[in-house]
Amino acid sequence: MKILFLNGPNLNLLGQREPGTYGSTTLADIEVMVREEALKRDVEVFFRQSNLEGDLVTWIQQAKGAHDVIVINAAAYTHTSIALRDAIAATGIPAAEIHLSNVHAREEFRHQSMIAPVCKGQITGFGALSYVLGLIAAVNIKENT
Ligand code: DQA
Repeated sequence: MKILFLNGPNLNLLGQREPGTYGSTTLADIEVMVREEALKRDVEVFFRQSNLEGDLVTWIQQAKGAHDVIVINAAAYTHTSIALRDAIAATGIPAAEIHLSNVHAREEFRHQSMIAPVCKGQITGFGALSYVLGLIAAVNIKENT
């Protein structure tokens, strides 16, 4: 089983970026946590981050035939990107949306997710644990599709 973790803009700054909201764990630390969990489940994980919308669109397109499930923290593009939504819909790869913070408890513009309707579900507000929960969800999605 191959699970692709995609990370959007500014998530490369985790650890130093608004720690009160996003915690002090870096993306590299989160990747280690996810890899430890993946090892226990005999799952292969791939981690990518970009600040560019087009990179994320391309990686979603390239995932077709290469990965079983996408776990995506699209960061701010969650709330704006029809292109990401279309890419997920176009490839038909099952996707799980994740966020560190609880987007529904924050500013109103974060309450809307462009990608939620084309994702299997949303995990939001559990900090770094959202990524591990995303992995568990992805395994479950794959086993049930
Ligand atoms: C985020 C929430 C988004 O609203 C925000 O733009 C981010 C991070 C999160 O993980 O909590 O960059 O996706």
